[in-house]
Amino acid sequence: MKALVLSGGKGTRLKPLTNTMAKQLVPVANRPVLFYALDQAREAGITDLGIIISPETGEWVKEAVGDGANWQARVTFIPQLAPAGLAHAVKTAQDFLGDSPFLMLLGDNIIQGGIGQFVQEFHRTAPAAYVLLKEVPDARLFGVAELDSTGRVVSLVEKPKEPKSNLALVGAYLFTPRIHDAISQIKPSWRGELEITDAIQRLLDMGEDVRSHVLEGWWLDTGKKDDLLEANRVVLDDYLRRQIDGEVDATSQVAGRVEIRKGARIINSTIRGPVSIAEDCQIVNSFIGPFTSIGARTVIEDSVVEHSVILDDCVIKQVARLADSIIGKSAKVIRDEQTCKAIRLFIGDDARIEL
Ligand code: TTP
Repeated sequence: MKALVLSGGKGTRLKPLTNTMAKQLVPVANRPVLFYALDQAREAGITDLGIIISPETGEWVKEAVGDGANWQARVTFIPQLAPAGLAHAVKTAQDFLGDSPFLMLLGDNIIQGGIGQFVQEFHRTAPAAYVLLKEVPDARLFGVAELDSTGRVVSLVEKPKEPKSNLALVGAYLFTPRIHDAISQIKPSWRGELEITDAIQRLLDMGEDVRSHVLEGWWLDTGKKDDLLEANRVVLDDYLRRQIDGEVDATSQVAGRVEIRKGARIINSTIRGPVSIAEDCQIVNSFIGPFTSIGARTVIEDSVVEHSVILDDCVIKQVARLADSIIGKSAKVIRDEQTCKAIRLFIGDDARIEL
């Protein structure tokens, strides 16, 4: 069994962060979101991992993942020259996949509890494809499955106007090599992409058995600002353990599940978990509230920060309350007491400021 993890795409909805980083490397609880997908493949017992990369961000992904030793896995990077759809990514990986069955995961999605049970079920029932589904409030935004009474998939439609169920496809699929035949028979959709939903529908039209599993736990897609904040909140809430490896001075208080990594210093501040503070940060005269992740070497002084994701090398000074925010690498948010009536900005393309 192999795994194919999709780490290409455009990442338009996470601009400006994705102007300078792969969207799969955006951190959730101070760890690239892609690493959770690699963990999930590895926990399901798969050691042969293919990672789809794009020309724009592929080198960053290669550098972050390395040779796969952290996962005790063999990693093959597969360049996809254009983000022409999930089924196109499978087609691009055909040489790597050969005639092996495989797990396909989206590199910016996280599934609670992993997918080991789902992989076992695929082996036990041996369908041509197995899809993971989740009940959603508005199915019109997703690929939607219609099931029969035994859980077999009857039809699949991408973003239907009138959904036949509230079961959306989440970013995890298991395939036998039959999927390659199906992909070779489909055409690009109206949005110009080879859709994996169309390929699975083609399998059904070919008379193949497609089964499903409805996920009970959470499923997180980090592709947009609010989804990324939510993923950070849920992962900190569910997985973070208290671990203080940095320095906390006598006038500071650290309450609850807080991670303070090596080299970080907390001076005259209060940290109320769940909070993750990465290596070599400095937090001075500040309050850091729940559901916040702060990247390496960031400095926060005389400020209040909560429910936010701050990346590496930022400076935040004298900000009365920063909440529900995502701050990209090396950004500076500084209040100047002398010019408090004016707002002075020097911001990059695609930035969004709410005042
Ligand atoms: P999407 O989030 O649908 O695509 P995107 O990255 O282009 O996002 P946006 O709409 O914001 O521009 O893709 C889901 C995942 O699959 C994501 O991790 C990127 C990856 N992907 C590929 O690797 N190749 C592709 O051709 C596409 C469409 C996506």
